[in-house]
Amino acid sequence: MLTLTKAIYTFLVVYYVIIPAGYLTKWWFFNEDTFEMNGRANILVTGGAGYVGSHTIVELLTNGYNVVAIDNLVNSYAVKDDKPESLKRVEKITGKTIIFYNVDIRDNTALQKLFQTHRFDCVIHFAALKAVGESVQIPLTYYQNNIAGSSTLFEVMKENGVKKVVFSSSATVYGIPQFLPITEEHPTGQGCTNPYGKTKYFVEEILKDVCTSDKEWSVILLRYFNPVGAHESGDIGEDPTGIPNNLMPYLAQVAVGRREKLHIFGNDYDTHDGTGIRDYIHITDLAIGHVQALEKLFEPMFRGCKAYNLGTGRGYSVLEMIDAFAKASGKKIHYEFTKRREGDVAASYADASLAKDELNWTATKDIHDMCKDTWNWQIKNPYGFQKR
Ligand SMILES: NC(=O)c1ccc[n+]([C@@H]2O[C@H](COP(=O)([O-])OP(=O)(O)OC[C@H]3O[C@@H](n4cnc5c(N)ncnc54)[C@H](O)[C@@H]3O)[C@@H](O)[C@H]2O)c1
Ligand SMILES: *[C@@H]1O[C@H](CO)[C@@H](O)[C@H](O)[C@H]1NC(C)=O
Repeated sequence: MLTLTKAIYTFLVVYYVIIPAGYLTKWWFFNEDTFEMNGRANILVTGGAGYVGSHTIVELLTNGYNVVAIDNLVNSYAVKDDKPESLKRVEKITGKTIIFYNVDIRDNTALQKLFQTHRFDCVIHFAALKAVGESVQIPLTYYQNNIAGSSTLFEVMKENGVKKVVFSSSATVYGIPQFLPITEEHPTGQGCTNPYGKTKYFVEEILKDVCTSDKEWSVILLRYFNPVGAHESGDIGEDPTGIPNNLMPYLAQVAVGRREKLHIFGNDYDTHDGTGIRDYIHITDLAIGHVQALEKLFEPMFRGCKAYNLGTGRGYSVLEMIDAFAKASGKKIHYEFTKRREGDVAASYADASLAKDELNWTATKDIHDMCKDTWNWQIKNPYGFQKR
């Protein structure tokens, strides 16, 4: 009798407790949401070999995300048929592996194959052409690459049920600032003076429309101010081909002796020293901003399309930057004033409080870190990723 009771009791325990517990444990470990909660989501990074992409991948990997990167290498250095040098360096910094494909975002077939090979939880979309001056010369190339390319990417995402995206936008969508500091409420698309800026504005609008049409999409638009600096290791950094378009890499090349002097566009602006004021942000702070944006996107309640400024909220003039760079490098920086550049504004800086409140993100590095890290990267790699 006692053995029978024992047998029934054992049966009941196994049937109602142990087996369900097994299922629950299995579900717990293999459920996709659990992966996300553990921060182990799979992220597709487009334009991953580039400046912002490579630094962001460092932060993604150190925060436990899995990364697949694609790039067509138009603006990145790689030995033929090999992983881009920037990503090899990222692997060295993090001790982790990145899956890389040479894929163009305009190539629907290649993207389909990619999405069928990997299951992505989110896409961080950096791939774009970004030279303002060049965009005036070859607008169709910019529209084709940045707008048609993005729309192809979103289409493939949609077909494969991937509906989360972080998009690299820019403060350039605000055009000529109507007020300072610039909040996310500032009008966009008015007075975007060049095709590059317009592509950022148009892609933002496309994503807003996509979110309106389908409530399952969650999108974060990150409006960068002026990313500068390099990873503190000095192993990765900004590697412009040809003459740099931006102040910081130009300064670095003057300091290292690759260029004779800096040309300052205008010294008659309505600012304290007459030169233009910009909000510079350290690339590592910017990269961490993307990790914070992901955390936000993965919140169960997050829906729709939201824009956040990524800046420090503080502006520096060109002359202040030169001074800081001279201190960091110990080099004298030669410069001369030339006339204003069309489309440039006197001052632009962010109101960064929304990202602080909603993304729990603030820039922690200052102008000295920006200059010190740029210089460290420059002297370790005088010719960028390409060895001479
Ligand atoms: N660096 C800045 O000052 C700045 C400021 C605001 C916004 N942004 C935006 O941030 C993103 C990244 O900028 P970055 O400074 O790292 O530029 P980057 O040129 O270093 O990186 C962009 C990468 O995208 C790749 N790419 C371009 N077209 C592609 C295509 N059709 N298919 C696949 N890959 C392609 C390039 O090869 C490059 O590696 C861009 O969207 C840019 O517009 C940059
Ligand atoms: C905000 O970020 C800080 C530092 O990165 C962290 O310690 C804190 O836990 C975060 N707060 C929230 C609410 O996530």
